[in-house]
Amino acid sequence: MLPGTAAHAPAVFKIAELQKYSPEKNPKAGYLISKYSIDTYSHYAEQGFLTVVQKGSALAGFSVVIPWMNPELESSRDRLKPFLSELTLPDVMQIVLLDQIASHPDMARSGAGTSLLQNFRRHYPRHTILSAIMESPVSNAASISWHLKQGFLRVATFSAQEFCGFQNYQSGLYRFLATTSE
Ligand SMILES: CC(C)(COP(=O)(O)OP(=O)(O)OC[C@H]1O[C@@H](n2cnc3c(N)ncnc32)[C@H](O)[C@@H]1OP(=O)(O)O)[C@@H](O)C(=O)NCCC(=O)NCCS
Repeated sequence: MLPGTAAHAPAVFKIAELQKYSPEKNPKAGYLISKYSIDTYSHYAEQGFLTVVQKGSALAGFSVVIPWMNPELESSRDRLKPFLSELTLPDVMQIVLLDQIASHPDMARSGAGTSLLQNFRRHYPRHTILSAIMESPVSNAASISWHLKQGFLRVATFSAQEFCGFQNYQSGLYRFLATTSE
């Protein structure tokens, strides 16, 4: 487990490309994410938001985790705000957003995702982690299964008119509660 650096950004970008939703590959499931450039991943690495996990010399996965009040999240906060109002959440300073997580398809289901979660829980032991997963028009079944397996709870549904080129999409909002005893 390593802090991501600008040098990792091209390989991170490649994993995101490989894991992106593709109607040709699978019209019913996939990873719908904001398209970040290599420069954006470099920028996130410089901010300390990017973590990578390696298996040997290959990059097995990455995550981008951003503190909720960071200016980078302004548009996500605006998008999610109406759906958060009914939740009992801790102080906003105690929330982080799991913005992106992906493992290399060749290394799927070998624990890369779990290592990344363990890592950011170590960094944010008293923070609540929020995560949003597309459910309609395509349902990201692998991600839903992974989040539930890790102990995330589905706490809200949100919808909006446009995301990643999809109209009228619906996502589930998942929450991982902080374990204050740690
Ligand atoms: C979600 C993701 C990060 C999990 O990474 P991973 O390295 O495979 O995760 P781990 O090995 O730690 O955990 C494996 C668990 O994830 C879930 N999972 C992973 N791939 C799956 C698949 N193709 N179908 C169903 N469940 C899957 C299962 O719960 C699995 O447990 P199991 O093997 O006992 O059934 C990975 O599937 C991925 O990169 N998906 C594409 C990107 C994405 O959708 N990211 C989340 C956006 S919200």
